[in-house]
Amino acid sequence: MVKTYNLKGPKIVVEPPGPKSKKAMARKEKYVTNGIKIGLPASLEIAEGPFLKDVDGNVYLDFTVGIGVHNCGHRPAALVKACQDQLDKFIHICFMVSPYESYLKLAEEMSKITPGRLQKSIFLNSGSEAIENAVKIARAYTKRKYIISYKTAFHGRTFLDISLTGKEKPYREGFGPLVPYVQLVDYAYCYRCPLRLEYPSCNLACADSIRTVMETSPLEGDVCCLVGEPVQGEGGFIPPPPGYWEKIRKICDDNGAVFIDDEVQTGFGRTGKMFGIQNWKVVPDMLVSGKGLSLGMPLGGVSGKDEIMSAPGPASLGGTFGGNPVCCAGALESIKLTKKVLPNTKMINRVEKKRLNEWKDKFEAVGDVRGIGAMMGAEFVKTRKGKEPLPELTRNIQLNCFKHGLYILTAGAYGNVIRLHPPLIIKQDLLEKGLDILEAAIAEEIKKAGLA
Ligand SMILES: Cc1ncc(COP(=O)(O)O)c(C=O)c1O
Repeated sequence: MVKTYNLKGPKIVVEPPGPKSKKAMARKEKYVTNGIKIGLPASLEIAEGPFLKDVDGNVYLDFTVGIGVHNCGHRPAALVKACQDQLDKFIHICFMVSPYESYLKLAEEMSKITPGRLQKSIFLNSGSEAIENAVKIARAYTKRKYIISYKTAFHGRTFLDISLTGKEKPYREGFGPLVPYVQLVDYAYCYRCPLRLEYPSCNLACADSIRTVMETSPLEGDVCCLVGEPVQGEGGFIPPPPGYWEKIRKICDDNGAVFIDDEVQTGFGRTGKMFGIQNWKVVPDMLVSGKGLSLGMPLGGVSGKDEIMSAPGPASLGGTFGGNPVCCAGALESIKLTKKVLPNTKMINRVEKKRLNEWKDKFEAVGDVRGIGAMMGAEFVKTRKGKEPLPELTRNIQLNCFKHGLYILTAGAYGNVIRLHPPLIIKQDLLEKGLDILEAAIAEEIKKAGLA
């Protein structure tokens, strides 16, 4: 049986963080590493559908969904049931010891739902670990050294992943030396074009600059792979313009480099398609999934072309828990549930686009509004002309929303982007209610900061 709570909200009964949450935060300070920073200081008790309930009785509307994980809302009954059924059979065996059905079936399903012919998969414990494995496999296949990634990308927290992630603080600072043979390149961040050009007259010159990097010494003939998020997530919800990934695909092909599509944040419906790259006419060589893959059960995956996935030698990949049977059972349910909620992303996109553009007209500080599908965000700046980033205002907006019962996340190379991750199951009236809270927070914090 799946327990239900019938949570309704948003409803604030005591100003957050309430007394019990404050006590929890004090324990966090005492017993948990300083390296983990808490974004919103409410200790949570129950999550259901689009809502979170804290230990002080407050109910929040959740536009963070565990950082882009619970696309189908918290604890969908079918998923909980599938995991319970698997728990009743066995919790863990290790796929390296003996195969089992949920892993095999998931690998089979991934070959059907991924674009192109990504026939073989491996499952790991997280998005970070999946990126590690994707690059290892690409190295084994190409026998080449260099890995290309983007300056504003985010690919996880392991040594390789932070080496592929450009943002120094907080991700890389103090942890060096990092992994060698990683070349970071400029992304198609049109609002802050690294080449100071404008789309479409730029003819995607930023992509051409990557060709130059690949075709010039010392990388020439030695590029193993390019790793890219179809829409940058932590980087600030930045979709590249039409034609961008097609051009990158061609550059990879011309140079024998594997194109690794990091779908950890964009995959499983967030961009309005099952995978973000399907918004472009491009088929990757390898696709990395995580987050929404199993809707909260920890799982990462790499799916790729047969010839690439067959390159590593026997026993060269694996791990004790990778592809845990309960997580794979959850992922099989996630695929079914995600297919069902995909059409709702059209409503989310329409409503969010309208509201965000109204805010851009109304507030000078809303410098840019962008995104695709249900992956929309806004970038906050001091002036339209100078585009000076306002991370403090952005953080204050986030905290203001929190006090009024809405969970939202910030992002961006400068920490000045509000990103919206509503669950894809959300109904229009609740979405509008959340956006009302956000609009009031923006207006209030802009006023407090003495901005227009
Ligand atoms: C695009 C992208 N890749 C990789 C990761 C790392 O995934 P995980 O946190 O599951 O290790 C993330 C996490 O936010 C991500 O957004």
